[in-house]
Amino acid sequence: MRNVVLGICGSIAAYKSATLVRLLIKSGANVQVVMTPDATNFITPLTLSTLSKNPVLVDYFVTETGEWNNHVELGLWADILIIAPASANTLAKMANGLCDNLLMAVYLSAKCPVYFAPAMDLDMWKHSATQANISKLQSFGNILIPPGTGELASGLHGEGRMAEPEEVIAFVSADVKKKLPLADQKILVTAGPTYEAIDPVRFIGNHSSGKMGFAIADELARLGADVTLVAGPSAQISKHNSIKRIDVTSAAEMLDACLQNFKGSKACVMSAAVADYTPVSVAEQKIKKQEAGFSIEVKKTTDILSELGKQKKPGQILVGFALETNNEEKNAVDKLQKKNLDFIVLNSLNDAGAGFKKDTNKITIIDNKLQKTAYDLKSKEDVARDICTKIIEFIKK
Ligand code: CTP
Repeated sequence: MRNVVLGICGSIAAYKSATLVRLLIKSGANVQVVMTPDATNFITPLTLSTLSKNPVLVDYFVTETGEWNNHVELGLWADILIIAPASANTLAKMANGLCDNLLMAVYLSAKCPVYFAPAMDLDMWKHSATQANISKLQSFGNILIPPGTGELASGLHGEGRMAEPEEVIAFVSADVKKKLPLADQKILVTAGPTYEAIDPVRFIGNHSSGKMGFAIADELARLGADVTLVAGPSAQISKHNSIKRIDVTSAAEMLDACLQNFKGSKACVMSAAVADYTPVSVAEQKIKKQEAGFSIEVKKTTDILSELGKQKKPGQILVGFALETNNEEKNAVDKLQKKNLDFIVLNSLNDAGAGFKKDTNKITIIDNKLQKTAYDLKSKEDVARDICTKIIEFIKK
């Protein structure tokens, strides 16, 4: 939920709007409150503008300046429109396309999902006219946040009480998530370098920052996936708190974490820069610089991607990376086939702006049918979007 227009109607339940705005802001949303003129009798615009950090809109025109509040722009800006509380009067207007206030104009202009949380007295709620209006709104695709049952402002006891702000947030979040293209898909992502210990203070590592893998994990989470991120040592921080992060240091630890999590996953994106070699033994004490030179005996690490390629079941999607300096496409195709991948993301160190520690990347995706798509130089966030679009294509196949 990024841009939320919160419509507030004239109902005693408008007092709950203050908490609702607070919770929306806390969840990271940008909130624009639009009130019906009657709603201002129940809660002040000042309260809501302070909480939402935005001026509250009520009228079509700002009389002092002669400016108009552009309802079409607002309708387009909104990712979702929540009308809470939605009074019986507003529901009737929505159902019939009446447009006598700014909120109704925004509603009619909105192209985004519309949620409404009715609040009214028991008998008004039960009235056939209200029920017919609700059915009509649902037939338009608007989504009802059911009212609760309990004591009503009139003193009656029954259905009609606006859902509590926490319930509104939970309902909308669950509904938004359920409709995302990767909802309920478990996806494993690896990111960053691995460090292979030489002694207690030294290691063999590489320049990977983890930026690309973290950007992919964030984008997958934004698209609704349940993401497990296996991260080598990296200063990056995920934007989405739904991402389950497993910190590892060495290639062996990364292998263990991947093997444990790959089984139940729909896809795995292996963007980590895993060490290919690790010291045969780790010195227990810090190695002293006594001799003119010394050598470290190393052994091959397990190729995690190849291992997952062997374990891959039909329907699972495996994505690898290839960072090349020469014979780029041939090497990438070899890796794609040898490691049993669905597609490989090739980035060449010869491309300016691509590679380790940069904020940009330039990739070519080669799939298992050897179809090749070359992309422009883009921010790593936009590259992540391209990779995730490809993953969605494969999942839908
Ligand atoms: N990879 C892996 N485990 C390793 C080494 C690499 O899972 N031990 C994965 C990387 O995460 C990447 C892909 O394999 O997705 C390609 O890695 P790269 O180092 O470019 O290729 P290698 O297969 O190791 O071959 P080479 O180093 O010879 O280019």
